[in-house]
Amino acid sequence: IETPSSSLSPSSIADSFVFAFDIDGVLVRGGKAIPEAIQAMKVLNGENEYGIHVPHIFLTNGGGKTEEERCRDLSRQLLQDIKPGQFICGHTPMREMAETYGTVLVVGGEGEKCREVAEGYGFKDVVTPGDIIKHDAATTPFRKLTPEEHSNSRVRDFDDVTIDAVFVFADSRDWAGDIQIMLDIAMSKGGRLASRSETFDEGPPFYFSHNDVVWSAAHEHVRLGMGALRRMFEVTFNDLTKGQGKLNTHAFGKPQVPTFEFASRLMKQWRHSEHGICEAPKTVYFVGDTPESDIRGTNAVNQKAENDWYSILVKTGVYQEGTEPAYKPRVTVDNVLDAVNHGIEREM
Ligand code: G3P
Ligand code: MG
Repeated sequence: IETPSSSLSPSSIADSFVFAFDIDGVLVRGGKAIPEAIQAMKVLNGENEYGIHVPHIFLTNGGGKTEEERCRDLSRQLLQDIKPGQFICGHTPMREMAETYGTVLVVGGEGEKCREVAEGYGFKDVVTPGDIIKHDAATTPFRKLTPEEHSNSRVRDFDDVTIDAVFVFADSRDWAGDIQIMLDIAMSKGGRLASRSETFDEGPPFYFSHNDVVWSAAHEHVRLGMGALRRMFEVTFNDLTKGQGKLNTHAFGKPQVPTFEFASRLMKQWRHSEHGICEAPKTVYFVGDTPESDIRGTNAVNQKAENDWYSILVKTGVYQEGTEPAYKPRVTVDNVLDAVNHGIEREM
């Protein structure tokens, strides 16, 4: 089914270029589609003067649900059928670590849903903050489990449990409680909750699905994100251990180059399975709203990759017109529709 992208036949699939989209602040804001995003999707799906269909994937730092559920939400918002094979969220690459650790604490997201996500990735033994609070309500003095959280939490004896790693999958719904539990584990002897280290350098590793200090939601100003939670956790750990402790923290997501490389592999599979295209695209247009993650990451992977990763910054999210972006895109446009048109015009 592959035909050269220079051919103008209505069924053409672009084989030399591809689009990758950030979601919050580019396609969606506060759970609703940014109006131009719906038209942008139509243009990609052949409603353009060349009748060309442009393969595309989605790469968000957000998460908190399974990829299937996120795709259902996004399909509804953008009026387009979006499949898990073209979708990566902040915690997707964490599935590659499912075999590495035995018992893990998974933090963030709505009503214990991230446990389901982690188990779906193959993590063998998943603990949530809800389990810990159910075991000992004094853990978080001001937080009571909701009836839903109470019924979804599991009872176990934490005296015998060793947390081998902590994964922050999605934005915390209870920052104080989650930070408290993360600190208890970071200050423990090798992840045993009931213990306290004397040296504060033997806690398990902490993995954050991204490091965005702010993100673009419904409010007119940016809102605090997981990067802010990480900062609060690290600064407080440092205060509590009088600067003597050692944390082992890592971030996935954009702008990390391995996340873009993961996206590159997914793109390869998607273009092959969906469109029958085997060779790598010459150009990847990445459309984002956050210079520190989207543009920084795209420019960084461009330094390493054989193909051209072309960064496009939009003005509908974190980046504000009139300010100087910390990382410079190849081009800045008003919105995602302009970004799509810019790429197609550049190619045709
Ligand atoms: O929590 C989500 C947010 O930090 C960023 O999402 O789609 O802009 O990468 P996105
Ligand atoms: Mg964004």
